[in-house]
Amino acid sequence: MTTHVVHRRLTPHKQQKSQNSWAERCLSMLLIAASVALGCAVVSALLRTFQPFSASLPVVLQPKESQNAPGLSTQLVFKEPSPEEVSRLRKAAQVLDPELMEQIPEAFNSSVRNPCWTSPSGEFKCLPYFYVTGLFHAGGLTLGNMLREHPEVVVDACTGCQFWGEEGKKMGFYLDHMREAAKAIQAAPDTKVLMDGSASTFAFYWAGGGKAHRGFAEAMQPCYRSCVDSMHKDKVPVEECMDKKCYNMSLAADVQRAVSAGIDYDTEAHNPLLVRAVYGNRPPKMILVVRDPIPRLYSAFMGYPHYYGKYGKTSAGFTAYVKEQVGAFRTCAASYGERRCALLFEALGAREEKVYFHADQLMRGMYGLFLEIWYRFIPPTNWMVVHSDDFFSQPKDTLKRVIDFLGLKQVDDAALEKMRAAGKPNTYTTGQPPMEPEARKLLAELYTPYNSMLAKLTGDKRYEQWNQQPPAQQA
Ligand SMILES: *[C@@H]1O[C@H](CO)[C@@H](O)[C@H](O)[C@H]1NC(C)=O
Ligand SMILES: *[C@@H]1O[C@H](CO)[C@@H](O)[C@H](O)[C@H]1NC(C)=O
Repeated sequence: MTTHVVHRRLTPHKQQKSQNSWAERCLSMLLIAASVALGCAVVSALLRTFQPFSASLPVVLQPKESQNAPGLSTQLVFKEPSPEEVSRLRKAAQVLDPELMEQIPEAFNSSVRNPCWTSPSGEFKCLPYFYVTGLFHAGGLTLGNMLREHPEVVVDACTGCQFWGEEGKKMGFYLDHMREAAKAIQAAPDTKVLMDGSASTFAFYWAGGGKAHRGFAEAMQPCYRSCVDSMHKDKVPVEECMDKKCYNMSLAADVQRAVSAGIDYDTEAHNPLLVRAVYGNRPPKMILVVRDPIPRLYSAFMGYPHYYGKYGKTSAGFTAYVKEQVGAFRTCAASYGERRCALLFEALGAREEKVYFHADQLMRGMYGLFLEIWYRFIPPTNWMVVHSDDFFSQPKDTLKRVIDFLGLKQVDDAALEKMRAAGKPNTYTTGQPPMEPEARKLLAELYTPYNSMLAKLTGDKRYEQWNQQPPAQQA
């Protein structure tokens, strides 16, 4: 299941040996734009439509002071959105991703504990009641595996299908893959609840945030094709053509989509808005397991062959990887600001698109950035943020608190022990040397503001301690 972490770019990047081949990047682009199929005839019309727009659009991709602050505003009060606000979000989601909303009823059946409804065709359908939103290499999967064993929790094919993190998966697909769960819930409507334990739900950096950026994909795909054509016709390198025409134009189209949806691009055009829109007045419960982002990254590096295969499965290899990735992120931030780079990275231009795996693993550790946006749509009372130290040192006690938070019935010690035993943590850094001080220092500088933000958002000062690591500490 952990292999899902590399989801839709695994194939193109796996063949990275010939990494400058446009065929590969083409594949990557097509994956980004997989949801649309516009013919070549539309290309020039589209370009004509969007070019005049881009000049006047409120897309300011120059660094601004507010964009350089990695955190968002210092907003710390998050309230449950009013019914009017929820209906604004639902209208916006219909514009961003029509298919997502088409299937969703106005209201769920209030006599069922889990969010469910009867579709016009008479089928009983359900969405998850709660999400274990992440993270990989932090304990999210382990916690999810334990919760599966709770007698009231039901799971189905999409409990781990990374629906929110993969833009190619449609709502119709999601609901179809939770049919068996819906049957189980229908048979026990007062007790059973459905879990989604997909660990890619939380961090909606560009590769994971595509559902909210269909405007980009729809503009990018024909533009990309026109660049391939001009490579064949006029020998213009595709990369140069795309840098000139496609990135800014596609971002402008994406911003335009947000404008017509009546939302703010930077703070609102993201997956959390879509999740809230889908759930309307019954937001789901959200669980997040967070671990110090530096050892989390070391574990990810040692856990995925494509990383250590390229840089070497040694602490020196990790340092080389960190230098390259943090360097690329800093270069991006100097042009566009940290926040935009964290959220839009490879959409910004060919320079970023070329970065190995688009610095995705770095961004996953910027918890504070993502949580602040989540809180705008699903307020803190619906979230439980679990410190991975608590989870691993006191799993049963943590499980009890999670069960409480979910409103499920407490179980006896034998059942709790059975749940605990169902979650075996994976470790990837056993036997590895400690990371080198240079890597740790670069990462500590990168993550400090996001750790502080997480501490502020959750009120848990222990996240500040991640900023005071002794340089020689074992990963
Ligand atoms: C709501 O669910 C209950 C329990 O399954 C069922 O009896 C009832 O018919 C449902 N109501 C509607 C409107 O579908
Ligand atoms: C794209 O936008 C950026 C910033 O807004 C600008 O600096 C750059 O020149 C634009 N590129 C093109 C090809 O228009």
